[in-house]
Amino acid sequence: MWIFSWKGPSGFSASSTAEEVTQGIEAYGLTAIITGPTSGIGLETARVLALRGVHVVMAVRNTTAGHKVKQDIINEVPKAKIDVMELDVSSLKSVNKFVAEFKSSGYPLNILIANAGIMAPPFSLSEDNIELQFATNHIGHFHLTNSLLETMKNTTQKSGIQGRIVILSSVLHATTYKEGVRFDKINDEKSYNALHAYGQSKLANALHAKELSRRLKEEGVNITVNSVHPGIIATNIARSSLLVRVVFGYVVRLFLKNVEQGASTTCYLALNPAVKGITGEYWVDNNISTTSAFVNDPEFVKKFWDFSVELVNGKLTSSPL
Ligand SMILES: NC(=O)c1ccc[n+]([C@@H]2O[C@H](COP(=O)([O-])OP(=O)(O)OC[C@H]3O[C@@H](n4cnc5c(N)ncnc54)[C@H](OP(=O)(O)O)[C@@H]3O)[C@@H](O)[C@H]2O)c1
Repeated sequence: MWIFSWKGPSGFSASSTAEEVTQGIEAYGLTAIITGPTSGIGLETARVLALRGVHVVMAVRNTTAGHKVKQDIINEVPKAKIDVMELDVSSLKSVNKFVAEFKSSGYPLNILIANAGIMAPPFSLSEDNIELQFATNHIGHFHLTNSLLETMKNTTQKSGIQGRIVILSSVLHATTYKEGVRFDKINDEKSYNALHAYGQSKLANALHAKELSRRLKEEGVNITVNSVHPGIIATNIARSSLLVRVVFGYVVRLFLKNVEQGASTTCYLALNPAVKGITGEYWVDNNISTTSAFVNDPEFVKKFWDFSVELVNGKLTSSPL
């Protein structure tokens, strides 16, 4: 479609692919963690980062699938450097275990891509008793990021290379519950709406990027944090909801990107020198875009951050991890 080819200030568009936005970049010596690289956008992100020379650590909940993806990428890119480590991002215990394993590897960490996600399943709670979409899409990534920050800061200091954190949000962050984030009833099954809860978790992703970027800037740390709407891509994301499968299958097919295009904004933010120093923004189609009002409300953002910290700390102290 012509509209996909409209180029924004970056010079790239919705139809740009991950390979195109990283063309000519040699990223040997950089290490990236990508959550959820066994399918869809994460898989293409892992492939293209590996193609550019990045040492990719695949954080996967299904290690058999992870090793298969690793082999497929190596078949195409024989010099690819890839590790597979187990992570169920919906579980704080699993996040802690992953972080311990990563730290004991002694690897540096330049790039963190919070990509794993689920969309609109029926109501359920995570093993830490947090509504599953909020637990998977936000809280696990929030804890993972905070737990890896020291490693990223050390890498940045030693190498002098800017660290980059990319968090997958969605345009559907705007279709959250009317209160934005339900601080008082995050686990309320009665009023649960699968699509609003997905929107809430994706709003959380944009809020997370906004506040973390502000904090790092204030500290003078050379790490950028940005959130991304990748476009509408027919991946496995629709698997938990019949409604979403139908919508993806029939209604939005005309607006779909392929995964090569869907992974481009993530790869652009992870590797392209043109975005050096740009932080706290929400990106669509390789260009800065606008978010819902919640993200620009400093009081709301602070309340959200404190809520996330309390949720993690409460669960970590109340359960024998
Ligand atoms: N596709 C779209 O149109 C679209 C639009 C806007 C935003 N997004 C966002 O883009 C991101 C990637 O989505 P996608 O479309 O590529 O979906 P996908 O094909 O379903 O891939 C999701 C990935 O996340 C992993 N994952 C799910 N739950 C996990 C858990 N508890 N622990 C560890 N990994 C887990 C999945 O692993 P398994 O294979 O083991 O399940 C899979 O590798 C998501 O954050 C999504 O919200 C997608």
